Amino acid sequence: MKAVYSIEEQKDMLWWLENRHEMPTKYMYFGIGSKRWIAIAHRRMTESAALGIHMLERVLITQKINTIIDSLSAYGYKNYNIIDFGCGDGSPTYPIFQYLRKNKPSAKLKYNPIDISVDMLATASKNVKGAFGVAGERNKWDLDIGNFSQITKKLNKPNFGNLYLFLGATIGNMPSIRQDLINFRESMQRDDYFLIGAELLKESDIGTIMKEFYNVGEVFDIEMTSFEYLGARRSHFAFRTIFNRAKSQIEGYIIPDRDIKIKLAGKEVILEKDQQIMSYRSVRFTTERLTGLLEKAGLRLEMFTTSRDNKYALSLTQPII
Ligand SMILES: C[S@@+](CC[C@H](N)C(=O)[O-])C[C@H]1O[C@@H](n2cnc3c(N)ncnc32)[C@H](O)[C@@H]1O
Repeated sequence: MKAVYSIEEQKDMLWWLENRHEMPTKYMYFGIGSKRWIAIAHRRMTESAALGIHMLERVLITQKINTIIDSLSAYGYKNYNIIDFGCGDGSPTYPIFQYLRKNKPSAKLKYNPIDISVDMLATASKNVKGAFGVAGERNKWDLDIGNFSQITKKLNKPNFGNLYLFLGATIGNMPSIRQDLINFRESMQRDDYFLIGAELLKESDIGTIMKEFYNVGEVFDIEMTSFEYLGARRSHFAFRTIFNRAKSQIEGYIIPDRDIKIKLAGKEVILEKDQQIMSYRSVRFTTERLTGLLEKAGLRLEMFTTSRDNKYALSLTQPII
């Protein structure tokens, strides 16, 4: 497979592999990984509500969309700028655009996806334009690098209210959640709103969560994406997932069945036989942990709601500036 990662991205991967025996989750959405992700997102939208977090999130957004849009409208905004961070295929925004098209027919709308993967950016822009005729600017950015105020400055438009999105429980995949939330706050303006979807921990569900991960080959497929782009073969790896109670997170590991040579930033790296490489994390929050993180990052909570089964949370915040 052709290399899809920039030299800077390869240096970052090298650092994580050498210092943390980890391949950051964010690199799995490149190229063919974007297609693999869309298949997973689609399943999470269509399967039973017991596992389909995309469906849970869509239900919550639909229930609260009045409150969300009213919050922006309270500032007198009549046009809406949707800034979708970690956009995936863009489909989590659909209940927002459906509502706006129906209830604010004269509003001007913009859709601005921001993502580390240009493939995800292209898919999301195409989908939202196709479904609602809404377009905007797409920007590539890695949230771990820092705030993205140079992008948001360009996206701000007079008379447009900004709604930032961080949906699909992407927050749980991030290695430094508190810093990432600060990066958001530093990229926002006083009147902006920020909607975050996150998975909650229900102790009794740990078995079900793990079963989903053990049974689903597609998770292994997507975890292998970055390694395949670096020249490794999937058949030379085993796959393992655990629930790390101390960190309250699911961790996915790939394990080489022999020493495997890959090249990163011009340097040869050996992935050693039997060494577990963490390639996926997904934090499950308690309500207290989540709201505590938001508060510590300087985000004021305007609305917080959970799904009836308490598996998913949606929070609407504003930066304290
Ligand atoms: C779990 S998917 C969620 C996609 C979409 N929001 C949804 O709900 O279906 C994570 C998305 O965030 C992007 N992403 C992950 N880490 C990122 C980072 N550090 N910076 C920017 N984008 C990131 C991925 O490329 C992918 O599009």
